[in-house]
Amino acid sequence: MRLMSGGQIDTVMQEDRLFPPSAEFSGASVIGSMAVYEALYAEAKANPEKFWGDLAREELHWFKPFTKTLSWKSPNAEWFADGTTNVSYNCLDAHLSTHRRNKAAILWEGEPGDTRTLTYQQLHHEVCKFANVLKSLGLEKGDVATIYMPMVPELAIAMLACARIGVVHSVVFGGFSAEAIADRNNDARAKLVITADGGWRRGKLLTLKATVDEALAKSPTVKHCVVYERAGNKPAMTAGRDLWWHEQMAQVNANCPAPELESETSLFILYTSGSTGKPKGIRHTAAGYNLYVKKTFQWVFDYRDNDIYWCTADCGWITGHSYIVYGPLSAGATSLMYEGAPNWPAEDRFWEIIEKYRVNILYTAPTAIRAFIKWGDHHVDKHDLSSLRLLGSVGEGINPEAWMWYYNKIGGGRCPIVDTWWQTETGGIMMSPLPGAIATKPGSCTKPLPGIIPTILDENCQPVPQGQGGMLCMSHPWPGMLRGIWGDDERYRLQYWSRVPGQYLTGDNARQDKDGYYWIMGRIDDVINVSGHRLSTIEVESALVSHPLVAEAAAVGRPDDLKGQAVAVFVTLKGGEATEALRAELKAHVRKEIGALAVPDEIRFTNTLPKTRSGKIMRRLLRDIAAGKETLQDTSTLEDYTVLAKIRSDEE
Ligand code: WT7
Repeated sequence: MRLMSGGQIDTVMQEDRLFPPSAEFSGASVIGSMAVYEALYAEAKANPEKFWGDLAREELHWFKPFTKTLSWKSPNAEWFADGTTNVSYNCLDAHLSTHRRNKAAILWEGEPGDTRTLTYQQLHHEVCKFANVLKSLGLEKGDVATIYMPMVPELAIAMLACARIGVVHSVVFGGFSAEAIADRNNDARAKLVITADGGWRRGKLLTLKATVDEALAKSPTVKHCVVYERAGNKPAMTAGRDLWWHEQMAQVNANCPAPELESETSLFILYTSGSTGKPKGIRHTAAGYNLYVKKTFQWVFDYRDNDIYWCTADCGWITGHSYIVYGPLSAGATSLMYEGAPNWPAEDRFWEIIEKYRVNILYTAPTAIRAFIKWGDHHVDKHDLSSLRLLGSVGEGINPEAWMWYYNKIGGGRCPIVDTWWQTETGGIMMSPLPGAIATKPGSCTKPLPGIIPTILDENCQPVPQGQGGMLCMSHPWPGMLRGIWGDDERYRLQYWSRVPGQYLTGDNARQDKDGYYWIMGRIDDVINVSGHRLSTIEVESALVSHPLVAEAAAVGRPDDLKGQAVAVFVTLKGGEATEALRAELKAHVRKEIGALAVPDEIRFTNTLPKTRSGKIMRRLLRDIAAGKETLQDTSTLEDYTVLAKIRSDEE
C-alpha cells in the first residue's frame, strides 16, 4: 500500500497486470506498435494545428477548403472556420462513388427480433428524403429539432437529415419524462419534435408519442411533430400539428444535394446534467466534431473494412452520436444498432446478437458488464463469440475484476480491451489504448490520443508529481471539443475554463503511473477525505467488487466528527446472505486489498444502486442517504425514481 496525505488524492490501487496485444493483432493494425504511436503523438504535440489541419484536408470533403486551421480566443475555439463542408455528405455521399456504396451502413435488430439492413446507398436515399420533409415543414439552417425516438434506423436518418441542411438536432433519450422533453424544447427553442408512436423495451411498449403530447402542451415554440410508426398503437394525432413520417415521406423526392455549410455550423446540442442546476445543452459543431469522431473511431476501434461493429449505447447519449452514427458512418463502417434491453427475452441477448451477426468489435459499458457477471456465465457459454476481435468500455471506470471477466469470458483472452475515457463535452474519445500498440492494464484508460495534451494539477493549479492524483485538465483545444453551452456563454466559461486559467477542466481526478498510464479516479466532487487522506471512490469500489460475492459497490464520504469523513459503501450482492458476518468479511477484505484507511465504517447491503439512465452510479445521492439527510438535489436524471426509497427501506 502507498498512501500520501495532504491535498493529494491517495492511490491505493496496486494493479500491475499488463496485457500487450498479440503480434497477429498488431500486425494488421493501423497503429501497430508503440513506436508508431509515440511518433504520431510527438508529431501532434509539437504542432497540434498542423497535425489537425493536415488530417482535416485528408479526411473530410471540402466544398471550399479552409485556409485557417484554428482561431483560439480562450474559451472560444473555431476550427477550419473559413472552409465549407457537410457532415451528412461525409457520412453518406462520400461513399457512393467507392466500393462501399453497396455495403451495409446500418444493421438493425429490433427487440422483438425484427431486422433491417440499410446500405450506404439506401441510407442516403432515406436521409435525402427526410431532409426534404424538414424543408417542407419550413425548417432552416440554425433551427432546432428535438428527436425523441426508440433505437430504430429512423433515429439515425433523422439526425443525418438535420445535419444535411444545418438543422441542429437535440436528441432526448427515449426514457426521459415529458417534463424533461419540455424543458429541453424550451431551452433550445425547438421548432419541431420527431418521435415515434412507440418502441420496445423489455417486452413492453413505450408509448413515446403520449409522452410527447404531454411535453408539447408546455412547449410553445414547437410547431410540428413528425411521428414514425414503429408499434402500430394508433396514438392520438393533433390535426395541423402532428404528421405521420410515412405520409410526409410519400410527398417528397430524394433529390437533396448536400449544401455547403460553414465548418462552425452547429451540428447538435445534447443535454447533460450537472449535479446542480438545470441540464446544460452541450453544443457541437460540424467540421471539427466530424473530423474528431472519424479519426478516433479509426484509431481506437482499429476498424477494418469488413468488420461488423456494435456499440450498444443509445443514440440519446453522446456515445451513440459519436460511435454509432457520425464516427462509424464517416469512416464507412458497418454499424449495428439494437433497439432493446440486454436481458430480453433472456439474459443472453447480447451474446445471441454477436453470434448471429458475427460481430467483430463490441463497445459497451461497465454497468452492463457487471450485470452480465451477476447473471452468470452460463448465458455466455451458450454462444459462439469467436468472431470478436476487439472489446471496448465507456461511461465509468471499469473495476479490474470486471475487466478481467470481460477479457477472459467475452474476449476469450484474445481481444484487446479499449477502456475509453471521454465526456459529452469532449465530443469523442480522449484517452484510450490504441489496441495494436499500447499494452493494457485493467482499470486504466492508458494514454492520450494524438493531439490531446492532458495535465494533472493540484489545488493551486500546479502539476502534481508523477503518481499523485489531481484535477485532470486539457491544455490545448482539440477539434471535437464543445463550442459552448446553448444560450449560456457565461456558464460555459465558468464551468470549464475558470478554475484553471487557460485550461479545460474535465471535472475528473486522475493520476499517472510510472509508465505514464492514466488512471481516472472519479469525479472531483466524489473524493472522500478521511483524516486528510483523499481517497478515490473507484479504488474502494474495485476492492469490494473483487470479493466473490459482490456484484456492485458505491463508495461515498459520510460526515465524521473525528476523521472529517468516513467511508460508507453501498453494496449489491451476486448471491449469498447479507449478514453481519459478511459485513465483517468485506471490511477485512478491503483492509487486505487496500489498507486500514479505506476500510468502510458503514456497509449497507441493497438490491439496487441509484444510476443515471446511462448507467452511471449517482454517488451524490448516496451521500445524502449515508449522512441521514433528505435529498433536496436534482433527481431528474435518475433511472428509477423509487430507488432512493428502496435503499432507505433496505436498511430497515
Ligand atoms: C464522465 C463523462 C464518455 C461518453 C459517455 C459518458 C466518466 C467516462 C470513463 C472511463 C472512467 C469514465 C468520467 C467522465 N467516464 N468514461 N473510461 N473511465 N470514467 O459521457 O455522461 O458526459 O460522462 O464519465 O467521469 O467525466 P458523460
